[in-house]
Amino acid sequence: MPDEVGLWQVIERKARDIFHRYGFEEIKVPILEKTELFVRTIGESTDIVEKEMYTFKDRNGASLAMRPEGTASVIRAYIENGLYVRGSVQRLYTIGPMFRHERPQKGRLRQFHQMSVEVLGSDRAMTDTEVMAMAWQLLQEIGLEANLEINSLGCAACRPSFKAKLQEFIKERLEHLCEDCQRRSVTNPLRVLDCKSDHCQEQYTSAPSIIEHLCGVCSTHFDEVKEALDLLGVPYSVNPSMVRGLDYYTRTAFELITTELGAQGAIGAGGRYDGLVKQLGGPDVPGIGFAMGIERLAMLLNQKNELESPPGLDLFLVTLGGAAYKKGFHLMQMLRSLGVRVMMDHEGRSMKNQMKQANKQKARFALILGDNELKNREVALKDMLSGEQEFVELATDFQNWAAAIKTKIK
Ligand code: HAM
Repeated sequence: MPDEVGLWQVIERKARDIFHRYGFEEIKVPILEKTELFVRTIGESTDIVEKEMYTFKDRNGASLAMRPEGTASVIRAYIENGLYVRGSVQRLYTIGPMFRHERPQKGRLRQFHQMSVEVLGSDRAMTDTEVMAMAWQLLQEIGLEANLEINSLGCAACRPSFKAKLQEFIKERLEHLCEDCQRRSVTNPLRVLDCKSDHCQEQYTSAPSIIEHLCGVCSTHFDEVKEALDLLGVPYSVNPSMVRGLDYYTRTAFELITTELGAQGAIGAGGRYDGLVKQLGGPDVPGIGFAMGIERLAMLLNQKNELESPPGLDLFLVTLGGAAYKKGFHLMQMLRSLGVRVMMDHEGRSMKNQMKQANKQKARFALILGDNELKNREVALKDMLSGEQEFVELATDFQNWAAAIKTKIK
């Protein structure tokens, strides 16, 4: 609805402003992709792919999906358009709708909107920190608070041995775990750490920690990320059981969590995904990114109620009589082309009702133009805040007259 869209516009405007400050360029990617793209990137045994994707067969029998997230599509476009030859590092963002067939609740929708940001071509720890600092700054500048939780998910060298250790740990407690965890212990063991059941979480308090099983390179990378966050003064906490719901992450993973939205507290999340571009048939290019949910940001802003209401009109043209109406109509067009926000009544309402309309549309000024005024070559300009009224001479040169009115009201 228009009221809510106002909030969205504030968020998107601020996001674009900040993304551009950090050197990102906008990319627009399609809503429909081959289903296989998401299966190969997000992971076959993730909730998104197993239960939540909107997939269908098109008229040629090809399996398509409505994108559940933006990263896979951005990488597909990056590879197909050979963006890797343009420069060594690409900074891209995209804003748009995503689709997941989840159980709808407060802050969780089946069509929702993300601002999704990706850096392709840098494996440096400073890049991870820069991306998190940008997400942090965006929240700060729109006036929201969240906790930044970070973790390292290791790499192809250290994760398999951790996974094996975790699997062993789970096996010993299998009968005490929920059905989902029992299933995941085979298909996707890391995901069990993210289980929402308190009972399962009790079992995992003594689970091995991934942070303690990182290889030397991953460990140094994580230390550098933390050090750089400290340097910038971005507050964070390390959460070793945060594993993310998408399989493509390596090393740094992070979430921005608020306690003000009930169960759906993640307002943004992301991480590093080295190896994903190669896996999709591109060159061996590392990547990192995050996405923020616009609805969740808008809900938080709405709860805070701190936003200025949208601006009203600069001017409302009140006309009385046929000749004045036509003259006013022409004047309105000229004022609009000069950048003035102006409206008038087309329904032949009385002067009183037109003034009411001017108030309703929060017009700063009203210009009263009647057939008599036209004859006397003088119109009344009313300041709607002070109630003061002055008479403005109606110049023969219509263009100049519009410009003079603009100067008076702006
Ligand atoms: P994600 O954690 O699945 O990550 O989603 C990111 C954000 O999208 C969430 O933190 C939340 O704010 C919002 N979101 C997700 N699902 C819903 C929903 N059903 N309703 C409302 N909001 C939702 C990704 O999508 C990754 N592609 C992020 C990324 C980019 N990682 C690297 N680059």
